[in-house]
Amino acid sequence: MSIMGRLLVIANRLPLNTIRKAGELHFRPSPGGLAVGLSSLPESIERLWLGWPGVTNEKLKAEQKDQIIERLAAEDCHPVFLSRRQMEGYYQGFCNKTIWPLFHYFPRRTVYEARFWKTYRQVNEAFCDEVIKVAKPGDSIWVHDYQLMLLPQLIRQRLPGSEIGFFLHIPWPSFELFRLLPWREEILNGLLGSDLIGFHTYDYVRHFLSSVSRITGLEHMLGNVSVANRVIKVDAFPMGIDYEKYSRAIEDPNVKKEANKIRRKIGERKIILSIDRLDYSKGIIERLEAFDLFLSENPQYRGAVTLIMVAVPTRTVVEDYRELRSRLEQLVGRVNGEYGTMGYIPVWYLYRSLPFAELTALYNVSDVALITPLRDGMNLIAKEFIAAKADKAGVLVISEMTGAARELGEALVVNSCDKTAIVEAIKEALEMPPLEQIERNKVMQKRLRRYNISRWSQDFLDALFDIKKTQEQMSANRLSDSMAEKLAEDCHKGSKRLFLLDYDGTLVGFKGKPAEAGPDEEIVALLQCLSRDPRNTVVIISGRDRATLENWLGHIGTALVAEHGGWIRRVGRKWQSPVPFEMDWKETIRPILDLHTDRTPGSTVEEKDFSLVWHYRRADPELAYVRRHELRGALVNLTENLDVGVFEGNKILEVKSRGVNKGRGAQHWLVEQDWDFILAAGDDYTDEEMFSVLPDEAYSIKVGFTASRARFNVDSVKEIRLLLNKLLGDLDGTS
Ligand code: G6P
Repeated sequence: MSIMGRLLVIANRLPLNTIRKAGELHFRPSPGGLAVGLSSLPESIERLWLGWPGVTNEKLKAEQKDQIIERLAAEDCHPVFLSRRQMEGYYQGFCNKTIWPLFHYFPRRTVYEARFWKTYRQVNEAFCDEVIKVAKPGDSIWVHDYQLMLLPQLIRQRLPGSEIGFFLHIPWPSFELFRLLPWREEILNGLLGSDLIGFHTYDYVRHFLSSVSRITGLEHMLGNVSVANRVIKVDAFPMGIDYEKYSRAIEDPNVKKEANKIRRKIGERKIILSIDRLDYSKGIIERLEAFDLFLSENPQYRGAVTLIMVAVPTRTVVEDYRELRSRLEQLVGRVNGEYGTMGYIPVWYLYRSLPFAELTALYNVSDVALITPLRDGMNLIAKEFIAAKADKAGVLVISEMTGAARELGEALVVNSCDKTAIVEAIKEALEMPPLEQIERNKVMQKRLRRYNISRWSQDFLDALFDIKKTQEQMSANRLSDSMAEKLAEDCHKGSKRLFLLDYDGTLVGFKGKPAEAGPDEEIVALLQCLSRDPRNTVVIISGRDRATLENWLGHIGTALVAEHGGWIRRVGRKWQSPVPFEMDWKETIRPILDLHTDRTPGSTVEEKDFSLVWHYRRADPELAYVRRHELRGALVNLTENLDVGVFEGNKILEVKSRGVNKGRGAQHWLVEQDWDFILAAGDDYTDEEMFSVLPDEAYSIKVGFTASRARFNVDSVKEIRLLLNKLLGDLDGTS
């Protein structure tokens, strides 16, 4: 395990819940998967848990707050106190009326309220304040779940170098759902403050990356996203359970006793078990309706099967949850009224949470577990049921809309919206030969034992460490202040200085329409000053066409290279082309580009003397991604026997003569003199050709943090401008 300092775990709830009864404080463990998962980390990792203690400020006297702080500290916990008003807007409001329904595919239940959003932001800020108070250098920070999606970025702003992981315990919905959220961009930016973002399944990863690409324009490479020059990782970490705890539960005499008790009460009847928090996302009503249909279509099972339905109270202050309870209880009454007899109650309904012994006893005696949420991030109950079966028979029926179904393929997997399919699955489960049941369970048990809860937390923390290491390696080449000083000093000493500067992405930023990226006053003034000094030779070396470069930069006294070296214009001279002009290939290629442009709204074709370029910056990113692959394939095929190459740049695909490149363009100047200072800067693949022909002592700078032949990297266009300004300042001082 790779943690250096402490592990700060930040979640809405703490593993110890504070309850206020008759003015007195009581503390109860709230054992969730997360608390168990982290308790299995090596002892050597010091932990501190931050979260809401469970009571709002209004109910607490000052000394009670101190009492909470003290009691929690003994359990390595630290409270984030919140007021009733804050809990209303943040927890009941934005978390449970906005994010929860939307992310579980219930757009019609979703409430979009600006005041909920405002409080959500405030509470995330309050969490951040508390983190800042307790964090020490070297701590790793792990933020959990949808209640705290703004927190990673908030922490990043105040502790820029910190190591931050984020895990979402609920589904990440498809872009079509997520786009409905008025604060979608803020939420994404909040999360992108992390170094590692984890989800339960690859589907959620895929949906998240799609939202990132469509909303922020940031692309990913194998789950790596470059955000403000930090590379961050997005990956799937399916959460497991404490396998041994469940598989060995029945060895405990209390559990055995409990199991026998239930069996005695139910007698020979088969038991179907249903356990969930009483949440509309769990499909409990639909499940009971399916059971109703099952009994109506299969009269032979009336009196022979009992459904034990455990509904754990949750979020009882939210109206949707209260309504659900009364609907469910009505339905239970109806089904029992319809099929019950003096000695037979079809549905045993419990509205409470169960202690461990009772829960595992139920797992043990049940013949079937019917777990059919309409949507569920993971669902650990399903995994617990399989583990608790040990070597016994028992069939899991699970909804394909749960994260867990991805790992439990040997179960009976059903579409939870398809009542007929649930009815059939219940029958199939009840009639499956016991040997087959055991066989299926064994395969799943092996998997669950291996990918257990401690493996989950360790994998996540290892991945966090790995991505940090990657970031460090990448920033090792960052142009440091001291290196910039040295560069300025060498520049200052030189009297024959060559500047080879790329234009787009290096001197000016990108624009939606390439034609709009003309030079601003600042860059014009900078280049003018630089080229005014007779000791400086400034060359703008670009892929743009001649006319555009001339129009934008023709008057400022720099040499110009257009079309990656296809055209050259020395100061005060005319354009010259150092390469022969053979462009017959364009006739073949152009129609293919046109066809793809017609099929990709927002994309355009640019024709230059030496190349054809397909631009897709303004097209839908996912469509463009597909089209780019198709187009690339077609072009590579067609150009195989020509002296023409297909190149991928920043939101472009370019077909150009192989002989034309920035390396050759730069050579015209490199061989001209014995330069005593060379500075080359660029951001794109075409600039790599320029970097590769430079002498070793030249300063080469890449804008951005992807792999490059350049000696140094800088963050942005802004940094290049600052550097040039610095050089000018120093030079002015000496002239
Ligand atoms: C889900 C969420 C958790 C939450 C739990 C209980 O599993 O992902 O963050 O703690 O439900 O919900 P509650 O509203 O009672 O905290």
